[in-house]
Amino acid sequence: MLHFENISADILQAPVLRGIQAEVSQGSLCAVVGRNGAGKTTLLRAIMGFVPLRSGRILLDGTDLGRVPAHNRARLGIGYAPQERVMFPTLSVEENLRLPCQVIGLSRAEVDARLALTLEVVPQLKDMLARSGAALSGGQGKMAAFGRALMVGTRLVLLDEPFQGLAPALAAQYGDALKRLQERAPELCVVVTESNGSLLRDLPDRVLHIERGALLPDQAANAALASSSSHATFSLEAYP
Ligand SMILES: Nc1ncnc2c1ncn2[C@@H]1O[C@H](COP(=O)(O)OP(=O)(O)OP(=O)(O)O)[C@@H](O)[C@H]1O
Ligand SMILES: [Mg+2]
Repeated sequence: MLHFENISADILQAPVLRGIQAEVSQGSLCAVVGRNGAGKTTLLRAIMGFVPLRSGRILLDGTDLGRVPAHNRARLGIGYAPQERVMFPTLSVEENLRLPCQVIGLSRAEVDARLALTLEVVPQLKDMLARSGAALSGGQGKMAAFGRALMVGTRLVLLDEPFQGLAPALAAQYGDALKRLQERAPELCVVVTESNGSLLRDLPDRVLHIERGALLPDQAANAALASSSSHATFSLEAYP
C-alpha cells in the first residue's frame, strides 16, 4: 500500500532521511518511533510532498507520490495532522473540518457524510463544532486536527506526535478514537509518529524505529521495542 523505496532526503544539504526502505500494508496502524530530531516529521512531510527526495521513491498503491504535486495529496485520499496543529483561527471548528473537502471539490452530501464518520470516530468534536478554531486548548486542537485529517484521509492518515503533551484522560480518548477508526475504516492505513513509543500502548500493528534518519534493522528495533515494553506497562497504569 505505502512503500518507501530506499528514500533519502536532505535539509540545507544535511542528510535527514537516509535510505529508508519499508512497506506499510493496507488496514494497518504503523508507528514511527524515534528521538527528537530523528526525522519523523521529515518522513511525513516527504510523503506530503513538502520535502523533496534526494533519491528513492514513495509509492501509494503503486502511484509515485513524487509525480503528484503536494496540493493534490487530499485528492489522493491522504489526510495529515501536523505536529504543530494549524486551525484557522477565524473559522469555526466545523468550517476548519469542512475546508479541505471543499478545496478538493467534494459535494455537500459527500462532505456531510465525511463529517458524520469523523464525528462517529471522534465524538468529542461535536461540542466543539461551533467554536472558533482559536478557542481550543492544546489537546482539543489535537483532536480537531485529527478530525480534519480524517475528513480527506480515505486511504492514508498521517498523525505527527498526536499524544505528545496530551493529558492522560485525553490521550486515552484519542487512543479509543484510533481504535474506532480501525473498526469503521478497516482498509485505511494510518501512520503515527511518537518520540515516546510507550504512549502508543497496544495501538500499533507495527513499529518502525528511526534513528538519525535511518530505520533500525529489525533486530535492533525488536530490542528497542522490548526495552520500551516496560515503559508501556508503566504508562498503562497512567490510563485508568
Ligand atoms: N527547517 C529545518 N531547517 C534545518 N534543519 C531542519 C529543519 N527541519 C528539520 N531539520 C533537521 O532535520 C532533522 C530531523 O528533524 P525532524 O523534525 O524530522 O525530527 P523529528 O523526529 O520529527 O523530531 P521531533 O521529535 O523533535 O519532532 C533534525 O536534525 C532537524 O534539526
Ligand atoms: Mg517532529
